[in-house]
Amino acid sequence: MIPDSLINLLRDAKRVAVLTGAGVSAESGVPTFRDAQTGLWAKYDPQDLATPQAFMANPELVWNWYAWRRDLAEQVSPNPGHYALAKMEQLVPEFATFTQNVDDLHDQAGSQNITRFHGNLFGVKCFDNHHMIDNWRELPGTPPTCPECGSWLRPDVVWFGEALPENVIDHAVQVVRAADVVFSIGTSSLVMPAAAVPVEAINAGIPVIEINPNATPISEHVALTLRGKSGEVLPALVEAVWGQ
Ligand code: APR
Repeated sequence: MIPDSLINLLRDAKRVAVLTGAGVSAESGVPTFRDAQTGLWAKYDPQDLATPQAFMANPELVWNWYAWRRDLAEQVSPNPGHYALAKMEQLVPEFATFTQNVDDLHDQAGSQNITRFHGNLFGVKCFDNHHMIDNWRELPGTPPTCPECGSWLRPDVVWFGEALPENVIDHAVQVVRAADVVFSIGTSSLVMPAAAVPVEAINAGIPVIEINPNATPISEHVALTLRGKSGEVLPALVEAVWGQ
């Protein structure tokens, strides 16, 4: 299942960078962003909820959607894919995880060097001034408000149309250009600017390995695609390369 060429490449690798997306958490039971929503949320397109405009139009609706996602994320645990990545971090001298996910499953699995592109589902900040708020209480009917400026509280995530945290993409591009191997795992490679990171690596001639059960726009351009679930492929990879 794991080609010898990849086993040899990884055994010699000093620097490995990984970009992860929603697919890595799918086997933990976190629905991927583009999956159909269930129950109450089935009639909404997530792309219509995850915007500042949606929040301004209906703060309660968007706040409640994130409260539902937070509750869901609190009930799940890392899967073997998350643990395999944490293991790889221990085995490779320099290992960096860049994630588009807003859950905390990489952290829970033990990964250390994590850069979050899209924020944190469990963080809360205010809409107007981005004051980070640790203590807040649910209010009936509306989102809570900021104790410092009174504006609505919102999740500390990056919505469509918003800028990513400063310098994260520049940092990622620097790291992938210096890497021996780059992985793109469980991401549809559709959402910019994150999707540009593996493309930078491809353009720099760095071998990029994709792990995904489905084809993506970068599949034709990567050095190798491992077609499968990350929770199955990653543990098999760690076993094949390091016997662990
Ligand atoms: N293992 C690996 N990949 C999987 C698995 C799995 N078990 N299950 C699904 N996938 C793949 C799908 O084939 C798809 O390519 O994961 C990908 C999930 O794609 P998206 O839902 O588009 O998630 P992602 O690429 O992370 O989206 C990027 O866009 O929606 C916004 O901010 C949100 O961070 C998100 C960003």
